[in-house]
Amino acid sequence: MTADPSVDAADRSAPTFVAGHRGLVGSAIWRRLQSDGFSDLRGEASADLDLRDRDRVFDYFRRTSPRYVMLAAARVGGIAANASRPVEFLSDNLRIQTNVMDAALDVRVERLLFLGSSCIYPRLAPQPIREDSLMTGPLESTNEAYALAKIAGIGLVQAVRRQHGLRWISAMPTNIYGPGDNFDPTGSHVLPALIRRYWEARNADADRVVNWGTGSPRREFLHSDDLADACLRLLDVYDEDSHINVGTGTDSTIREIADLVAEVVGYRGASEWDSSRPDGTPRKVLDVSRLAALGWSPSIGLRDGLESTVEWFEQDPSCALARG
Ligand SMILES: NC(=O)c1ccc[n+]([C@@H]2O[C@H](COP(=O)([O-])OP(=O)(O)OC[C@H]3O[C@@H](n4cnc5c(N)ncnc54)[C@H](OP(=O)(O)O)[C@@H]3O)[C@@H](O)[C@H]2O)c1
Repeated sequence: MTADPSVDAADRSAPTFVAGHRGLVGSAIWRRLQSDGFSDLRGEASADLDLRDRDRVFDYFRRTSPRYVMLAAARVGGIAANASRPVEFLSDNLRIQTNVMDAALDVRVERLLFLGSSCIYPRLAPQPIREDSLMTGPLESTNEAYALAKIAGIGLVQAVRRQHGLRWISAMPTNIYGPGDNFDPTGSHVLPALIRRYWEARNADADRVVNWGTGSPRREFLHSDDLADACLRLLDVYDEDSHINVGTGTDSTIREIADLVAEVVGYRGASEWDSSRPDGTPRKVLDVSRLAALGWSPSIGLRDGLESTVEWFEQDPSCALARG
């Protein structure tokens, strides 16, 4: 697949709503659009515009008439949060994305990019995971509610394309990390959780850190600035019914990641693995050949990305830790 020549690059002066612009992904998209010359960016904190409130979302879209929407608002969390609060992960996400898309349809938003997640794929999908693995098997049970909402979002984007001919698209990113991440131990993903754990161990002069599982599962990580760059590229050139994977296409063991985090934060003690704890899926890496065919590849290596993330975290740890 190559970039669709019939798609005009996005107009940098168009009113563009970044839903979730204060989050890890949304803030990176905001920075990237700003640096690329988007001159009419709009964003609202959830405290000012709760996207679960349908009337207020319709009112906002009618007042502001965005031409483009980057939909990066969602209730997001790690395994523990997903497993303990499936109602919120399903209901909030369905409401947020449906309200935004219905209101966007109401004012005929020309381009909308919906951000899903690699957890939409079956638990035992062949690796690397291709886009057409969607709905070919049972989901991972721990984040099924979140995944179902995201799958419904992909379906709504496709339905709008077919019924109304609008150029809306869906992107499915792998695990994302970067400045602005959530470091709350009960709500965070694996990488920020490791950063926090090793950073605290270093500060406490601890001689050992115990991580969950065997450390052998393989996972893929993409820096939020790379994801934002890919989103801009997709907004400019991608116009297909199918959702598209966004990742690096390469993976590392959790043990390798933990060792790298320990090195980057300056922790010198031992790392131990509690193999009585569950490992989860043995391998999870995306097939990114469709994205590569559009001429996009990531530019931030894991070590560099981790160094800048830890640097951001250390500038104001209390503020970073308060997110969650
Ligand atoms: N993080 C990852 O590893 C990852 C991986 C794959 C895909 N993604 C996708 O990327 C998107 C963003 O994730 P993220 O990691 O950036 O999450 P995040 O850091 O938790 O940010 C979520 C954003 O959504 C907004 N939000 C949540 N509930 C809202 C509501 N009811 N009304 C209005 N805004 C609301 C928040 O606004 P406030 O800050 O104003 O409260 C926040 O800006 C999600 O769709 C997620 O599925 C993330």
